[in-house]
Amino acid sequence: VSSAAQLRSTLVADLIRSGDLVSPECIDAFLAVPRHVFVPRFFLDQREVSISADPKLNREWLELVYSDEPLLTQVGGSSQWLSSSSQPSLMAAMLEALQLSGKGRVLEIGTGTGYNAALLCEIVGDTRVTSVDIDEELITSARRRLASAGYRPTLVALDGAEGFPERSPYDRIIATCSVDRVPSPWLSQTAEEGLILVNLYRDLGGGAIAKLQVTEKEASGHFVSFSGGYMPSRAYTMTNAFDLYESRNESNPTQRPTRIGVDVFNNDSFGMFAALRMTAHRLTVTPEEEPEQLWLLSPDGSWACHTDGPTGPLVTQGGPARLWDTLESAYTDWTSLGSPPRESFGLTVTQTGEHTLWYDSPSGPSWTLVT
Ligand SMILES: C[S@@+](CC[C@H](N)C(=O)[O-])C[C@H]1O[C@@H](n2cnc3c(N)ncnc32)[C@H](O)[C@@H]1O
Repeated sequence: VSSAAQLRSTLVADLIRSGDLVSPECIDAFLAVPRHVFVPRFFLDQREVSISADPKLNREWLELVYSDEPLLTQVGGSSQWLSSSSQPSLMAAMLEALQLSGKGRVLEIGTGTGYNAALLCEIVGDTRVTSVDIDEELITSARRRLASAGYRPTLVALDGAEGFPERSPYDRIIATCSVDRVPSPWLSQTAEEGLILVNLYRDLGGGAIAKLQVTEKEASGHFVSFSGGYMPSRAYTMTNAFDLYESRNESNPTQRPTRIGVDVFNNDSFGMFAALRMTAHRLTVTPEEEPEQLWLLSPDGSWACHTDGPTGPLVTQGGPARLWDTLESAYTDWTSLGSPPRESFGLTVTQTGEHTLWYDSPSGPSWTLVT
């Protein structure tokens, strides 16, 4: 255990150096909570790593527990990630962004291993923490592990989209699974001026984390400056890029040159903006002896394929919508705003569920969030 404490303080020092941990409350919480209690076994690079009687294997397990890695703890069919202990640097940045004053009531969506719930208990106290997970078994094991480390938050097995009105209002809601829209119950269960911190699930990725302040009529705020991708809510039926690629219908395609290359996605902020403006998966395909192809594929059957032709980039499109046209128009909007960073954008969600994406302020240029 003393070596666990040593490894933990090295990780904390790294998180301070990287700027992810800043406040004394969060630093103390990361120093106090033993992550190893919550991840006795996990999967990394296709193999299982666990606590072990063999000192060498046990040391390897402990070192991985205190590295800045997300640790996969539950895998479903088709290797889908079902639960994990998130990457510590992301957890730290999220807890800092949550601006916990030390006395707020918090609802966490996605208990998982219980590690983040333990950090929340350290920061605001057990009686102010409620954490929910859709998986009853996870709740049971998290409850046991939390108690063994001395924490007793309220844990409930349910679909987080409902929130948990019995313990509302909350000053903070933090979602550690992603959602495609902010569920209305989260707005009604958050106290006036409370915050909702949530990663918006998008097929195109983008890692958008909205930090919304709640008022009587809506929740509104900028995206945070860091990106983060949490596993999507299990309540969704997911499509995957490869299945869409395999089942695409290539009749009646149109082809034209394009002025934008696949490198537009290298810009993280444009990546987020594009992901919020359109619904599409991205897939890179390398056919034998042909140039690499970038595909955009949407569940409605629309597709676009970008390649480098002999005279420049070419795009071929098919299906009901022209995905590359939408991408180009998002790119034009983003560059004409001066290629702003992700935190220049924001989101407003009304009590009735309208989602509006905006630039700079709610009264700035705006777009309906496409889902
Ligand atoms: C990245 S893990 C959470 C990590 C966790 N906070 C921790 O510290 O270990 C995401 C969790 O969200 C849960 N989840 C997925 N969909 C959910 C839903 N609709 N409602 C509540 N929990 C959900 C999963 O079961 C999974 O445990």
